[in-house]
Order: sequence, then C-alpha cells, then structure tokens
Amino acid sequence: MERTVGWTGRLYTPTFGPVLLSGMSANTTAIGTALIFLFCACGSDPASRTSDHELDGKDTLGNMDHHSHARPMEAVIEHLDLDIAVDMAAKRISGTASYAIRTKQGDHIILDTDGLVIEGVVDGAGTKLPYTLGDSTFLGRPLNVELPAGTDRIAISYHTGDHAKALQWLAPEQTADKKHPFLFTQGQAILTRSWIPVQDSPGIRFTYTAKVSVPNDLMAVMSASNPQGRSSDGTYRFTMDQAIPAYLVALAVGDLAFKPVDARTGVYAERGVVDQAAWEFADMGTMLNIAERLYGPYRWERYDVIVLPPSFPFGGMENPRLTFATPTILAGDRSLTALVAHELAHSWSGNLVTNATWNDFWLNEGFTVYFESRISEAIHGPDYAGMLQQLGRQDLLSTLVRIANSAHPEDSKLRLDLKGRDPDEGMTEVAYEKGAAFLRLLESKVGRPKFDGFLRDYFARFAFQSMTTDRFLSHLQEHLLEPNHITLDVDAWVDGVGLPADAPTPVSDRFNKVEHEIQRWIAGTPARQLDTTGWSTFEWMHFLRHLPKAMTEEQMVELDKAFHFTTSGNSEVLAAWLESCIRNDHDAAFVRLDQFLNTVGRRKFLVPLYTEMTATEKGRIMAQAIYRTARPNYHSVSVHTIDDILAWKDNQPPVNF
Ligand code: BES
Ligand code: ZN
Repeated sequence: MERTVGWTGRLYTPTFGPVLLSGMSANTTAIGTALIFLFCACGSDPASRTSDHELDGKDTLGNMDHHSHARPMEAVIEHLDLDIAVDMAAKRISGTASYAIRTKQGDHIILDTDGLVIEGVVDGAGTKLPYTLGDSTFLGRPLNVELPAGTDRIAISYHTGDHAKALQWLAPEQTADKKHPFLFTQGQAILTRSWIPVQDSPGIRFTYTAKVSVPNDLMAVMSASNPQGRSSDGTYRFTMDQAIPAYLVALAVGDLAFKPVDARTGVYAERGVVDQAAWEFADMGTMLNIAERLYGPYRWERYDVIVLPPSFPFGGMENPRLTFATPTILAGDRSLTALVAHELAHSWSGNLVTNATWNDFWLNEGFTVYFESRISEAIHGPDYAGMLQQLGRQDLLSTLVRIANSAHPEDSKLRLDLKGRDPDEGMTEVAYEKGAAFLRLLESKVGRPKFDGFLRDYFARFAFQSMTTDRFLSHLQEHLLEPNHITLDVDAWVDGVGLPADAPTPVSDRFNKVEHEIQRWIAGTPARQLDTTGWSTFEWMHFLRHLPKAMTEEQMVELDKAFHFTTSGNSEVLAAWLESCIRNDHDAAFVRLDQFLNTVGRRKFLVPLYTEMTATEKGRIMAQAIYRTARPNYHSVSVHTIDDILAWKDNQPPVNF
C-alpha cells in the first residue's frame, strides 16, 4: 500500500533558501552523550510530564524544534483545561484554553498560534496579562505572554479564524448519512496551533481535560476518555490523564454512534456506517492482545477507532485512545485492516515514545511499520506480512527515485533536516519503509527474541518521553549492538541517502505467481483464463502495479470485463486501476474517476491520480475541471498538496472537458 502521507515537494518552493538548511544532523556525538547523561539523571517516571523537557535545550533559547516557537527551557505547559463551544453553522470554535505552566527561567511563556484570534489572557486570579503576537510565517504566530513572578496558570480566550488548517467542517452532503454536519481535526504535524493556542512541539507533553459544547443533536469525541452515548444538553467532558504532545489532541463532532468490538475496543462512526465498521474491525481486540504480548502493556486503557467521512486526508491518525480512520478501508472483506494494526502500534511507537522533533519522524513511523507488520504476521502469517512488506518496498523504491531527482535529495536520509520547511514536505515513505527495513536488519543480526526484548525494554524505559535520533542511537549501541558484538554501518542508514545494500529484501512467493499470470496474459492468454483464484487485495494490487505501463484500449476493456476493476468497492484496487486508466486514456473509467476524486480526500490516493493527469494536456484539463469542484471538499493538507501538483490558483478560469 503506498504511503504517500507526505508530499516530497517536487513543485514546492521553500520559504527559505538552502542557507537555512543547516544540520542538526552534524552534531551527533557530543550532544548525544549529553542527552544520555541527562536522561539517566531524570529517571523514567511512567507518566512524567517534565523529564524530557530537560533534554530540549539545543540552543540558548531552549528550542531544538525548528517547527515551534516554544522555548521549553524557559517555560512549559504541563496541563491544559479546554473549555470550548463548537459552532457548526459559523464554522468556528471559541472558548478558553487554561494552562498549568512551569517557569524555569525568564518572565514569559511562548505558545504557537496559527490564524487564531486571541481575545485576552489572564492569570489564575483573573488578572489580565500583557501579551504580544509575533509575525506570521508558515509556522504561524508566536504568542508571547508576560508572566509576573509566581504565575503558574494562564487562561487564553480565543476563537478560530476562517480556514483553520486543522479543521475540516463538512456539510451534511459530505457525510455518509447526509443529514448532519461534521467536524474533525487533524493535528499532525503542526496544525493543532490553528485550533488551540499551545506549545505545538512533539517534545512537549501535557495532560488535558476538555469541556466541549456542541449542537444538541451531535456528539463529540476526543483523543481522551470518551462518551459512549449522547449527553442531554450537547456538553461533553473529556480527560486525558497521560501526558501527550499537542499533535495528538484531537476532536470529532457529528451524528455518531458507538458499537463495542470487545471489552476494551470499539468503533465510532455515523449511524449508517457503524455496523459495517464494527464488522470490518472485528480483529481489533486480538490485535491489541497481540501487540501487548509483543511489546508490553497497553498504557491508554481503551482503544477505539472512529471512522470519519471520506474527506479525511489520511488513512489513519493515531490519536491516543481513538484512532481517526478513513472509510476507504471499509472494503467489506477485512482486507485493509493492517491500517488499524498500524495506528494501534503507534500507541507504543509514537504516542508512548515520541519523536522529539519532526526531523526524527522515522522513530515514529519506521518503528510503527515494523510493529504493524509483526501484528499482521501474528494474525495472518508470514505470507500475508511478506506481501505487505513487498508493496511497501515498491513504494519506497519509487519514492527514492523521486527524491533523488528532487530539490531535496537529502530527504532520503532517516534523520531529516527540515529547518525552514513545512515538516509535511519531508514526511515520506523513507521514514516508514527505510525505517522499518533498518529495524528488520537489526532483528536479523541479533535474532527475533533478543530484538523483541530490546524493543520491549525501549518502550518501557522511555515511556511518555520524547526521543531524538541521537538518543536512540546511543541506546542502540549500548543495549543491542555492543552486547551482541554487532558491527553495522549505522551512519549509512541514518545519515546516508538511499537504501543501503544490506537492507533485507522482502520475498513473497504469492507475488511471483501474480507476475507469472501477467506474463501469461502478455503472451496471449485471455484475461478471464488467468488463474486468479484466491487472490487477496494485495495480489490484485501487485497485479495492477505490474501491468505494462502502456496498454491498448482493447487490453483495458478486456481487463475490466474480466475483473470489474472500475466498479470495485476496494479503494486500493480502484485507485491503482484508475491510475492505469488515466495513463492509457481509458475514458470509460473517467466518470468513476471524477466521482472518486469528488468524494475521497485521502491524500495518498489523490496524489498519484492528479499527478498522472498532469502528464498530458488533455489530462491536465480534466484534472483542473475535477479539482475545481472537488477542492472545496478536501481538507487543507490535501488542498495544499494538490494545489502544488496542479499549480492551482484560486481564481483559475473554469474549463470544460
Ligand atoms: N501518523 C500518520 C499520519 C500522518 C503522518 C499525519 C504525517 C500527518 C503527518 C499515520 O500513522 C499514518 O502513517 N497513516 C498512514 C496509514 C498507515 C497504514 C501507513 C496513512 O494515512 O496512509
Ligand atoms: Zn503512522
């Protein structure tokens, strides 16, 4: 499954020139050693809110995260009490964010905001505090609040602006039931600041409570303890007692229903979707048990999934206790539920041990892909996991070619340097698949039992803390490589471009058979005589990806007649087929393409389809016509990416196709 979670910016022009792209990556040893020392000194308090902040001092302002204005060495937030009202008609959130803060030095605290209207700031006694808002950049505007000595609480009254980047407000027609509006948030990477004033850095953790008022006929859920039924007055209260970073604060509001899967897991969705979702995710409880058996206790109590309307820009988002998921994984045959395993695995890799900055993104995603694959293997066997690994490797290899030819060939390193750029731009397949390949290599060197023990210890030891690449590498050296006398070119993996030659190659006999059938078809066997019995979604994906790039109209018609791709209800199969249809100008599928792009906002499907359309003039015209109507239905992260691909200007004249 291609994971185009990020956009590698072929058409993106960075705000800053290459001068600013200097390396946090160059400073390895000295700081690494200092970090290890500091870490050992602060212990491993399970739900520690503060220990990792001590590690954050990369420069004199205590700001090692280039994507936040916060200066954790001066003052940090430790707890948030959010009291907000959601106005679905005005598309606005308004209320108060109150913080317990800890001041370490200086007389102010800096929070991130993006597009927020700040109405006022007071201290714990209600006394007004002076504040300033800095200039606006792609990071938003810093909110600098003066703190008279002894101030340990502040309350910020605010409301969201128009086009808040995290928020997607959906009209009833954009939902499954078509009767009620819907709202969801997407925080990762730096969007939470567009709906809450907050220190929006993955290295800063806080606990939270929230009181959320919504229209009486709607229900609210968050990345926190959640209601399973309606409140009488539209007010919902939430608590998140485990400290989390800002990108994991999330909210969804809609006409929701809940259905349990087992005692610890369940599904939220619109009423008309919830039964199908609960059926599709019947394995959730098993996945959770397997994950715990592999890497230690689940630290977040419940694990639920909310299935959102189709404009959700990602496959899934690992909001703690409540994964946000696209409905495009409801294939009707449980074949796309590896995504749930992935988001569940983030409950350890990402949510317990969190990348300290977006440059360390591979520590979240590479570990999660490895972990996800172990869950899939335990449930479905090595064949199944092997196919997924092989699809992942295919995605990685094409991403590596694209990155090598891009303005940022250094984006193929595991340790990124995204200073001066939107972090979204560097969040590619590399973190996922090269990261997972590195862990598979480590596993192959020491054997599975030792590697599992290492990971179990890693999650327990660093739980509720942030992790830098340096800190991980020192830990790896000390606890895995040295004791087992392993020599490995770690630098080539972490700070080198491309995929090192010692990367393990995933194998799958089932895919060899698929390739054999393709060869038979090319040699003249009619499509309907190919042996496709028992093929899973993955085999079909492999088939579609390995068809000849150029096919005749007769071949396209023959394939579709034999296999009914155009009417497939499987989003992965359909998206892969539609890509071929665009490439081969198979216009019988264009109505379906138009309809797909006008309903689904999942970026990993949009990017290849719109990109393929830009290859020809006819395609480009079609892309613009489709995008004109679809664009208002996409979340800002998808809009941002597709605007780049199509060089879209808002006032583009309409075209006919
Ligand atoms: N955390 C990511 C989604 C994400 C990444 C959001 C970067 C914003 C910035 C999530 O865990 C993820 O990786 N989702 C994948 C699915 C997964 C099975 C690879 C997706 O959305 O496709
Ligand atoms: Zn992920």
